[in-house]
Amino acid sequence: MDLALDGNAALVTAGSAGLGRASALALAEAGADVAVCGRTTERLVEAREELLAAGPGDVLAVEADITDEGAVESFVERTVDEFGRLDHVVTSAGGPPSGPFLDTGDGDWYRAYDLLVMSAVWTTRAAYPHLVEAATSHDGANDAGGDASTIVNITSRSVQEVIDGLVLSNSVRRAVIGLMKTQAREFAPEVRVNAVLPGAHETDRIGDLIEQSVERGEYADYEEGREEWSDGIPIERMGDPSELGEAVAWLSSPASSYVNGTAMPVDGGSLRSA
Ligand SMILES: NC(=O)c1ccc[n+]([C@@H]2O[C@H](COP(=O)([O-])OP(=O)(O)OC[C@H]3O[C@@H](n4cnc5c(N)ncnc54)[C@H](OP(=O)(O)O)[C@@H]3O)[C@@H](O)[C@H]2O)c1
Repeated sequence: MDLALDGNAALVTAGSAGLGRASALALAEAGADVAVCGRTTERLVEAREELLAAGPGDVLAVEADITDEGAVESFVERTVDEFGRLDHVVTSAGGPPSGPFLDTGDGDWYRAYDLLVMSAVWTTRAAYPHLVEAATSHDGANDAGGDASTIVNITSRSVQEVIDGLVLSNSVRRAVIGLMKTQAREFAPEVRVNAVLPGAHETDRIGDLIEQSVERGEYADYEEGREEWSDGIPIERMGDPSELGEAVAWLSSPASSYVNGTAMPVDGGSLRSA
């Protein structure tokens, strides 16, 4: 499928690794110029090389902490300065710490709120005028005239079905869905806003968690850990990050021109609720 993103510019927060990077890669493969941010230089350098090799577009990799409003704003502005436009925003983030409610202090709640919610608020607020401007330059890239700019929020399946031991993810991420639904109504038709709800995907972070469990003796080896993480997933395996990235690129493209305000699980069918 031609996602028709040639000449478009996309920005992915926390896109230097994991699901954010997989999304940036799919957008780059679809022809877009792509900007990513993260806190660690090595990861940014690595991401930049991979993204440059993936498509015809340019790549910008910026050191920025998304819990810092000023850093988020200057990431958006640098992207627009570099590419001359901004058509697509993808918000990803690091994961908040795991733990039960009684072990979670006020500081943890406020940090998780900044990381997951305010980062999306700051990014989309700074990006909005640029997205609207870009929308006016689109030429109706499909038969029905799909010409909106887009925002996609990467959240978690935890917004639909709580996961034991993840009180911060279960609670705070739901605000991102409220934000997405509200923006989908306020920003259309110039900007479409959607979310993806990933189930378990085998990013480096998940790989590290499995390896740590092996070291603690919880699994005999990595393969056993993998099987445990895949338990209960009808497709019988974790997702590859590229499978999430491709869903994000589709939601960013004119191929999804009538999809707005949707929270789309990408979880191999593990959610039981519709
Ligand atoms: N992987 C899964 O199975 C899965 C499932 C459901 C939900 N999720 C959620 O999806 C999101 C991405 O997960 P992932 O597995 O891709 O994580 P990951 O592999 O740990 O990657 C996280 C990325 O975010 C960056 N990052 C973290 N904190 C940041 C900050 N404050 N400012 C800027 N960049 C920051 C990291 O780079 P630096 O550390 O260098 O900054 C890295 O590039 C997380 O919120 C996670 O909880 C993941």
